Amino acid sequence: MNPDILKVLYSREDIQAINARLAAQIKADYAGKNPLVVCILKGAILFMTDLVREIDDYLEIDFMDVSSYGDATISSGEVKIIKDLDTSVRGRDVLIVEDIVDTGRTLRYLMDMFQTRQANSIKVCTLMDKPEGRVVDVSADYVGTKVPNEFVVGYGLDYAERYRNLPYIGVLKPEVYAK
Ligand code: PRP
Ligand code: MN
Ligand code: MG
Repeated sequence: MNPDILKVLYSREDIQAINARLAAQIKADYAGKNPLVVCILKGAILFMTDLVREIDDYLEIDFMDVSSYGDATISSGEVKIIKDLDTSVRGRDVLIVEDIVDTGRTLRYLMDMFQTRQANSIKVCTLMDKPEGRVVDVSADYVGTKVPNEFVVGYGLDYAERYRNLPYIGVLKPEVYAK
């Protein structure tokens, strides 16, 4: 195990089980719809690629990279597009895939934007949901697991861009933040 990790919250096997459950729901709900599965970079990259592997049906994938900007301590709530989709969402059934929903700002922005772009439907699948962090009122349609208000890393989630490659989700040792 990575020496910076204090404890593992979700093992590789835990994550696989969650993904299989979500994929089965999504497959059933989107039968015949050829959804556009939108991966929100960078955090959702591992989750999205594992999730779609479990969905044995027609779908398309695309990627979007957004970042919150403004003061680091007082989040402006503004979101900036770093990389937009290549695909038009107009008339499409869009499934946004996120690794975690915290304040909900990223999701609110994306959902409003896809609405403006005239998607036929917009749903959200998130591996983790942190309801205690919510600042704006949004909720995901498919939730892998609810997590407490702790900072988690691994399986796509970073601290200062590290740990995204870990195959499990864990909590960092406090001394790592002090470095
Ligand atoms: C994280 C996470 C979600 C978003 C959730 O991404 O991956 O996209 O924050 O937070 P919110 O609900 O408060 O908006 P981040 O902006 O850190 O970028 P990253 O995915 O590239 O790490
Ligand atoms: Mn993200
Ligand atoms: Mg991040």
